Amino acid sequence: MNQPLNRRTVGAVLLLFAGLLATSPAGAQTKGAAPKDPETIAQIQAWNGECLACHTEAALHKPPRPGMDIKALSEALTDPAKYDRSNHAGMACKTCHVGGYRDWPHKGPAQAVPGKAETLDCNECHAQKSWHVDAQVAKSVHSKNLSEKFTCSTCHDPHVYQTAAKLKEPAKIVAQDNGMCLSCHQSDEKFAAFGGKLTPAKKRPDIDAIHAWLPNTKLHWNAVRCVECHTPVSPTRTLAISHEILGKDKAQRDCVTCHSQDSALRTGLYRHVAETESAELGFLNSAVLGNSYVIGATRNTHLDRFGLVLIGLVFAGVLGHGLIRILAALGRRSVK
Ligand code: HEC
Ligand code: HEC
Ligand code: HEC
Ligand code: HEC
Ligand code: HEC
Ligand code: HEC
Ligand code: HEC
Repeated sequence: MNQPLNRRTVGAVLLLFAGLLATSPAGAQTKGAAPKDPETIAQIQAWNGECLACHTEAALHKPPRPGMDIKALSEALTDPAKYDRSNHAGMACKTCHVGGYRDWPHKGPAQAVPGKAETLDCNECHAQKSWHVDAQVAKSVHSKNLSEKFTCSTCHDPHVYQTAAKLKEPAKIVAQDNGMCLSCHQSDEKFAAFGGKLTPAKKRPDIDAIHAWLPNTKLHWNAVRCVECHTPVSPTRTLAISHEILGKDKAQRDCVTCHSQDSALRTGLYRHVAETESAELGFLNSAVLGNSYVIGATRNTHLDRFGLVLIGLVFAGVLGHGLIRILAALGRRSVK
């Protein structure tokens, strides 16, 4: 084989390999993906049943064992129905909550004892995604001044969180994702747990007052995500959003980013819908239109064309009329 062909073959193999890596489903990179066989599923349900015997609302009223710290338990409840819809549905609680969490009383998470209760970090299982996400979080506004307690699970409740791809409906995605931000940015108490520790202590700014330049803020909070304006476009194809929350000076203020034909919403919030859309009935951004009317972004191409034809006809009419008048005048002159 000659040299260039050889190099090309190597290049093609590398490309193919990179392609395979890039297109492999998320589960393939995840340690311990949710099981499918009935026996394992039944086993996990039994295990989780043991934890849920104590860690649900119902257990508070009818404690299965005497001597439990009911107040502490009331702050450590999970909702099994939400868990079953979450990304982590089907997983054993003790896959993430290891060591001393497996038995009760739990071997003090606060004490440094062998086999103490520990919860695994996201990156222990999602190494590949976390590699990108961690770096973006590190550049984020929340990482500059806030304590190390501001972690992935401050925003993502691993027992509840569902990815945008799983939720699909834009209204649900917006409600969940904005809920992550607003649970803190609209709560003096939660905000103070982080902002209050700064010197000088930071008071929570009123979210609607900050964005007073945006008409009908409430409507926007229900229709677009905070991250649409507060993060740059995702630099990684495999991740729908960037985790770098930009400072207020870099936030998006330009109405046209969304209210225009090539609306940023196509690659942001509507990414999961837009991937399957066709230009239905001639509407541009029909995926967006199906869910809301975004002035300037959702236009009908047939109407556009009809409008152009109308303008053309008027123009032709004026031209034709002028032409006839000139011809008539010429005719009159030649008769004379
Ligand atoms: C013990 C391992 C483990 C830990 C720790 C863990 N996960 Fe998962 N995660 C999984 C498994 C298994 C799935 C299901 C994978 C599948 O179905 O493809 C999953 C699914 C997901 C998904 C949806 C699939 C995807 O990759 O987009 C997201 C998002 C996710 N986890 C985020 C998190 C976050 C955030 C944390 C930390 C708070 C976390 N996970 C901690 C194992 C783990
Ligand atoms: C007999 C009741 C009982 C069982 C069973 C039980 N727990 Fe707990 N758990 C508690 C109580 C009570 C607390 C409150 C703090 C304490 O007393 O340790 C708690 C606290 C926790 C915490 C939070 C600790 C913190 O400080 O935030 C986690 C996580 C936890 N349990 C996980 C589990 C898991 C996982 C299982 C199942 C493998 C499980 N628990 C089984 C009663 C129980
Ligand atoms: C994918 C990993 C994962 C799985 C699976 C998981 N948890 Fe958790 N859990 C976490 C993380 C992360 C935290 C937050 C720890 C922190 O912030 O210190 C947490 C916190 C908790 C807490 C403390 C209170 C709270 O909500 O912050 C309890 C109780 C708990 N989990 C119970 C359970 C039970 C019961 C199950 C099974 C039905 C379960 N967990 C499954 C990761 C997981
Ligand atoms: C300030 C809040 C916040 C913090 C902190 C945060 N996330 Fe997220 N994360 C989000 C939002 C909002 C989304 C968008 C929801 C979606 O598209 O699924 C998201 C999405 C994700 C996704 C799914 C992205 C995709 O395209 O599949 C993963 C995985 C993820 N986060 C992991 C992490 C990890 C790991 C950490 C900690 C290093 C972390 N997140 C910290 C808010 C946060
Ligand atoms: C349409 C784009 C847009 C959306 C959507 C948006 N923001 Fe903003 N946000 C901005 C801009 C631009 C600024 C800078 C305003 C200024 O400096 O006057 C800002 C400022 C902020 C600030 C800085 C406050 C301060 O002065 O210290 C916070 C906090 C904030 N936004 C949070 C949010 C949250 C939470 C959401 C979701 C509920 C959200 N934003 C949605 C564009 C947006
Ligand atoms: C648990 C609380 C908490 C959550 C959750 C949270 N934030 Fe914040 N955020 C803060 C605190 C505290 C500050 C002030 C930090 C500082 O001044 O250093 C802040 C600051 C900001 C700022 C202002 C930066 C500036 O230039 O002054 C923006 C923008 C912002 N957050 C957006 C978001 C968005 C978007 C989300 C959701 C994806 C989110 N936050 C989730 C607590 C939170
Ligand atoms: C991040 C994307 C985004 C940005 C940036 C944005 N908008 Fe919007 N806007 C939307 C969406 C989505 C809706 C549709 C709400 C719905 O479902 O009716 C909307 C609705 C509106 C409406 C209709 C309100 C009504 O009562 O029907 C007005 C007016 C508007 N935006 C003006 C603006 C102006 C002015 C700016 C710039 C200062 C702006 N928007 C910036 C996404 C955006």
